[in-house]
Amino acid sequence: MNKIPDRRTFAIISHPDAGKTTLTEKLLLFGGAIHLAGEVKARGAARRARSDWMKIEQQRGISVTSSVMTFEREGITFNLLDTPGHEDFSEDTYRTLTAVDSAVMVIDVAKGIESQTRKLFEVCRLRSVPIITFVNKVDREGRENFETLDEIADLLALDVTPMTWPVGLGGQFEGVYDLVGNRLLLPEGPSREFQGKVIQTSGLDDPQLDEILSAQGVAKLREDAELAMAGYAPFDAEAYRNGDLTPVYFGSALKQFGVDALIGALAEHAPPPRPQPAEPAPVAPTNDEVTGFIFKVQANMDPNHRDRIAFMRLCSGTFKRGMKLTPTGHGKPVAIHSPILFFAQDRELAEEAFPGDIIGIPNHGTLRVGDTMSEKAQVRFTGLPNFAPEILRRVALKDPTKTKQLRKALDDMAEEGVTQVFYPEIGANIVIGVVGQLQLDVLISRLEAEYKVAAGLEMAPFETARWVSAADPKALKAFTDINRSAMAKDRDGNPVFMAKSAWEVGYVAERYPDVTFAATRER
Ligand code: G4P
Repeated sequence: MNKIPDRRTFAIISHPDAGKTTLTEKLLLFGGAIHLAGEVKARGAARRARSDWMKIEQQRGISVTSSVMTFEREGITFNLLDTPGHEDFSEDTYRTLTAVDSAVMVIDVAKGIESQTRKLFEVCRLRSVPIITFVNKVDREGRENFETLDEIADLLALDVTPMTWPVGLGGQFEGVYDLVGNRLLLPEGPSREFQGKVIQTSGLDDPQLDEILSAQGVAKLREDAELAMAGYAPFDAEAYRNGDLTPVYFGSALKQFGVDALIGALAEHAPPPRPQPAEPAPVAPTNDEVTGFIFKVQANMDPNHRDRIAFMRLCSGTFKRGMKLTPTGHGKPVAIHSPILFFAQDRELAEEAFPGDIIGIPNHGTLRVGDTMSEKAQVRFTGLPNFAPEILRRVALKDPTKTKQLRKALDDMAEEGVTQVFYPEIGANIVIGVVGQLQLDVLISRLEAEYKVAAGLEMAPFETARWVSAADPKALKAFTDINRSAMAKDRDGNPVFMAKSAWEVGYVAERYPDVTFAATRER
């Protein structure tokens, strides 16, 4: 049976504290995957013991908790991929977005679009990933709804279509009105949560609304909703799927308002797996050959073991346990005997998986981020980018006899996407690049804990880097010869120009029109 139309592989993008964890819990709860909200956060030993996989996880010390969560509802399989929040912010986060077909953007009603949301949104835009917006915390005081909607439209250059509308915010909050189904969702009990109380109305003029809501609440709802429906574009499924329009759901993850509508929207509108860009030609999910790509590698948290889990997004074919797949370009076929499927509470051995699904492949470091896995090893997925680092530092080794270990450690971490590593043409100091400050702390502590390498970081005379290439090798050589002190090689031997500022990149690029300066490198 063709399972492709029933798959929804998506991620939640947000700024820390907007409510991603709470929303994830509620999606799993409404999706029937967990029975008690709060389980996503619970990491106690009792919970770990519950499934065999968790035992393996404990023995090997691999923590894959909540990297991928799968749940099913009404015949649709939802694969929710976690984009790590602030602490783990790295290329890893960006790359996860290459493995999804759509995203949910969570915004705090009081704060609007924040920096991290915006960065993640830009990555989605690069790949035309369609976005559903969830404006969270309407049970709290917030900005005017129009202000929120206009900010999304202006900052992100998207058409917006409100699909639900809150009746009052904060202290005045009385419920959520579904503008599409003309239903009123009401709070119940002392906690004022949504527990399923829904009033079907004939529209905004329905006199039932006057009976249930306060006079002020109903008047404002009618006025605002009419303005909103007249002022914003009507929902257009095609524009949404092209990434030009975002439907907006107002709700409260904590009080469970809007969660159901969100799942419904994902089921009804979010795209199933799409053809993936690849060489020599894009791969359609309906192709028979099993193909996929590794978008994330998670290393062992236990320094005594070197096991890793490679996360593969399946792009085509029906995967069966025990199948042999070959990483294109390097390595021998790998027989995948213990593929892992990720359900909210359990890890299960995957007997079968379909396009859009994510499977975890335990390995000893043979599989790398960006690898294409396939039966015939003749395709290569493109578009898994390396991003130009925003912070560059020199690594200063405290014990010079540990050079070899340092290289190995940095190469390992580069493989995982924790850092990028650059080997300057001149001098022996390795330069590392990251896209977020906090990655630096992670790097130093892991160097010490896992690799027993004591190192410090020093300011580098550079701030950013670009991959350079040219159609004419002579033009490239002329450039690199003159700029040798700013040249380095990345882990795969590609030439990289390190610059003191983004301004310098622009300046130099203008003087060398035959050389291409790329802020991302596809592998
Ligand atoms: P994050 O993963 O995006 O960082 O956010 P998280 O879900 O952890 O939520 C951040 C805080 O916002 C939490 O409060 C959470 O309870 C609260 N929150 C999330 N959704 C809503 C909502 O719809 N309404 C209201 N009023 N609050 C919401 P906290 O006090 O920081 O943590 P906790 O002790 O409650 O876990």
